[in-house]
Amino acid sequence: SIDLRGRSFLKELDFTGDEWRHLLDLAGQLKAEKKAGTESRRLTGRNIALIFEKTSTRTRTAFEVAAYDQGAHVTYLDPSGSQIGHKESFKDTARVLGRFYDGIEYRGARQADVETLAEYSGVPVFNGLTDEWHPTQMLADGLTMREHAPTVGGRPKPETEIVHAYVGDARNNTAHSILVSGALLGMDVRLVAPLGLQPDPAVVAQAQTVADRTGARLLVTDDVATGVRGADFVSTDVWVSMGEKKEAWDERIALLRDYQVNAGLLAATGNPGVRFMHCLPAFHDLGTTVGREIYERTGMDALEVTDDVFESEASVVFDQAENRMHTIKAVLVATLG
Ligand code: CP
Ligand code: NVA
Repeated sequence: SIDLRGRSFLKELDFTGDEWRHLLDLAGQLKAEKKAGTESRRLTGRNIALIFEKTSTRTRTAFEVAAYDQGAHVTYLDPSGSQIGHKESFKDTARVLGRFYDGIEYRGARQADVETLAEYSGVPVFNGLTDEWHPTQMLADGLTMREHAPTVGGRPKPETEIVHAYVGDARNNTAHSILVSGALLGMDVRLVAPLGLQPDPAVVAQAQTVADRTGARLLVTDDVATGVRGADFVSTDVWVSMGEKKEAWDERIALLRDYQVNAGLLAATGNPGVRFMHCLPAFHDLGTTVGREIYERTGMDALEVTDDVFESEASVVFDQAENRMHTIKAVLVATLG
């Protein structure tokens, strides 16, 4: 049987397919309990630190609600709220917080920093996103794909037959995590991106090693038609990630214009039941402050996904967002329960 107590949650490569499926099973169970009003508290008396060096809506609130539902307490530290990384090293901060807290969540730039926290705190550390990986997002995506799996002959299509095509900036945290988590689950995963925004070859090699064990099929291509054909799920992410320079926008828009998820791209899957996913936030309408700036410069009224796709029946983005909470709860319960 699978026991994750005391384990950190830093990146997908640290887990086996069975462990990953165990977390998805537990998340499904916790979600059902909450919906039925029968949730029991497995984390009473636990204290969890939430350190965010980059901004967040979903990840922060998901950790907070998950912890409170289970009877734990949290402390939120924003970029100006502690000495970490500025006046005090990660190694020293880890040893201090490890004396107070039962678990630590960290979102920031460097994967090495979250790994240092795990090494020196002596308590489970959870990666809430780094430049390299976004593993808590992948559990939400996995649960959402289970819930929206197409049915074949009255049964949900097995995970190992699901086709997931990610289109857009494939060199970022989300894309790298999609490749490895899909490999863990034995899926058919395609990363569709122009040359120059294709995944780090080292990540592709690591994912392929996992795929060799699980039977997953991995494809990296710049050809949209090939990449999306037969997809059950199409997903994308912002074209410029947190921490990247504002100047990157113009170059990215030029490179990624033909990789926008729009009605034509969904039609190219050949699958009328295709579902659309996005980790959010999404530039589907440019009514935000950053969006308006881009609109004024480029005249584009949507970036990685058009508003009609985002708002369509195919879109499962808010189920996916809800699942951030249930899946993060599963990580907390499995590691700290
Ligand atoms: N998807 C995601 O991580 O969202 P936040 O940046 O709002 O946490
Ligand atoms: N790739 C995005 C994901 C946001 C949840 C970023 O790092 O900004």
